[in-house]
Amino acid sequence: MADTAAEGFQITREQAEVYEERFVPGIFAEWAPRLVAFAGIAPGDRVLDVACGTGIVARTAADAVGPDGAVTGLDLNPAMLEVAARVRPDVTWRQGDAQALPWADDTADVVTCQMALMFLPDRPRAIAEMARVARRRVAVLVPASLADQPAYAALTGVVADHAGEEGAALMAAYWSCGDLPWLLNLAARAGLTEVESRTVSGTARFPSAEAMVETEVEGSPLVDRIDETTYARIRQDGARALATYAGPDGAVAAPLVCHLVAGSPG
Ligand SMILES: C[S@@+](CC[C@H](N)C(=O)[O-])C[C@H]1O[C@@H](n2cnc3c(N)ncnc32)[C@H](O)[C@@H]1O
Repeated sequence: MADTAAEGFQITREQAEVYEERFVPGIFAEWAPRLVAFAGIAPGDRVLDVACGTGIVARTAADAVGPDGAVTGLDLNPAMLEVAARVRPDVTWRQGDAQALPWADDTADVVTCQMALMFLPDRPRAIAEMARVARRRVAVLVPASLADQPAYAALTGVVADHAGEEGAALMAAYWSCGDLPWLLNLAARAGLTEVESRTVSGTARFPSAEAMVETEVEGSPLVDRIDETTYARIRQDGARALATYAGPDGAVAAPLVCHLVAGSPG
């Protein structure tokens, strides 16, 4: 495994527990059944979930494959895998790099990868690896471009006002695989055939508009590049810009649009 890739994603056990407790129900859980259905996962299938995090897709797939199937989740980060194993000990969890999968060709019926491709430096290689180890189907889910995300675009506009376009660019990782023609081309170049895609709108939930601003800023490199005054302004104006997505209790339900792309190894 490349040391640089591993170092870039080291998070603590505590951060992984926060991910499972807060971000999985708030953002990631609603996509897992959609991806599992889109991938055509059926009873008895062998499934590999790449960049599994704390395992929301892997455990959804485990329920779908039943006792005759088998699911393995792979992630670079040991802390994510510890939490995954605590929540679901009956699934197999393995540490590894998505860009060099530790499995032989055709190991799985189906390979899934949810909300992770945009964090991998070598995306063509990662998709090619998924195609290599899959026998029947590869299914990937990524957020659409920022232009398709009104709430996140509003927040990014506020960040650009206070931290410049360069500052806003530091929050752009999530949207970096969102161009659908580019994504379809990536799939074709990895040798996937019968490629299909679907663009679906979901909801990212936060306890408040301010919590959404803090989550997005503190989950990006931007937090280390701005001073206290700039951050205070972003918090204030960001919360105001997102107020339109808040309910009577202050909780925010922000639209989040994602692409699902699936194909068969040639
Ligand atoms: C936003 S999380 C998504 C996790 C999970 N798929 C989900 O839907 O909750 C991105 C995950 O990608 C993992 N990751 C980043 N780079 C990786 C790599 N090179 N190989 C494997 N996993 C990686 C991170 O550790 C993290 O768990």
